[in-house]
Amino acid sequence: MQSLEELSREIESIRQEIREGAAKFATPEAFYEFRKSFLDNKAGKIGHLMKEMRNVPKEDKAAYGKNVNVLRDWAQEHFKDMENAVRAKQLEMRYEREKIDVTEPAVRVEEGRLHPVTQVKNQLIDIFASMGFEVYEGTEIETDYYNFTALNTPQDHPARDMQDTFYLSPEFLLRTQTSAGQIHVMESKKPPIKIVSPGKVFRSDDDATHSPMFTQMEGLVVDKGITLCDLKGMLDVFVKRIFGEETSTRLRPSFFPFTEPSVEVDVSCFECGGKGCRLCKGTGWIEVLGAGVVNKKVLENCGIDSDEYSGFAFGLGLERIAMLKYGINNIKLLFESDLRFLKQIND
Ligand code: DAH
Repeated sequence: MQSLEELSREIESIRQEIREGAAKFATPEAFYEFRKSFLDNKAGKIGHLMKEMRNVPKEDKAAYGKNVNVLRDWAQEHFKDMENAVRAKQLEMRYEREKIDVTEPAVRVEEGRLHPVTQVKNQLIDIFASMGFEVYEGTEIETDYYNFTALNTPQDHPARDMQDTFYLSPEFLLRTQTSAGQIHVMESKKPPIKIVSPGKVFRSDDDATHSPMFTQMEGLVVDKGITLCDLKGMLDVFVKRIFGEETSTRLRPSFFPFTEPSVEVDVSCFECGGKGCRLCKGTGWIEVLGAGVVNKKVLENCGIDSDEYSGFAFGLGLERIAMLKYGINNIKLLFESDLRFLKQIND
């Protein structure tokens, strides 16, 4: 563009373009891009006019330069106003977006809580920890040896029929009892031993009070001079803490391959106080766990001298404790994740 005439036409068209552009910008970014396309020294249209100066005849250079400067000053002023307008519009939109209606009802924040079985597990751990027990967590997949053989239940032992086992291979299985953990602990630790071991166990069993997966807690104490009396004393403290001060225990003879003697432990019915009701089926007693004095063979299997040391063990089902404690009549409720049910138990 060499002639002044051409320049003034170009200037007019640029002014026009800037004026028309003004109303279009929804975002500041778009506006800044637009402004750049005129004012940028390198890529802008007005910057470009300046560069053209070298092609303008000498005698016109002064007038050319003046005209372009006037245009640039005008554009800068104009863009300043536009920028203010764009900013004001942005602010207005933001106020609109962030408007709060203080009269609207608040959104209720739902509070989560622990599953009843987890609540029971934590309560039991607290109680046992206060009596000096440590927590050992075993694995859900076990070998036949740890789950059965080392617990004095060899391959052809009839006691294997007490538990229907999910085998993964002839050697590996889903543990049927947390008792398997006893063996690991006794193999790796010298007495005195005092542990509880909570965890999932698996059995092919399914009805209103049995689930193929459920949770147990095993307890094991091994030291010099441990007897059945120590077990009874500990259980008395334990049941009072979990079911209430009025609760007492009763031991009935039973059989487990890994304990000798073995007992079934009943608690006096905390619902009727022993008079007989629906919960205790009229007997006044409720069965809560299996226990006994650790069989000498089990100690020997783990390399513990059974003449020097003795121990007691116990195993209980956490779902069963939860069902008794919270009056739940079907174990399935503990596995269905129905919030209407779960919300009712916050202990
Ligand atoms: N493991 C047994 C079961 O699952 C429960 C049990 C009974 C564990 C007696 C023990 C025990 O440690 O001494 O039925």
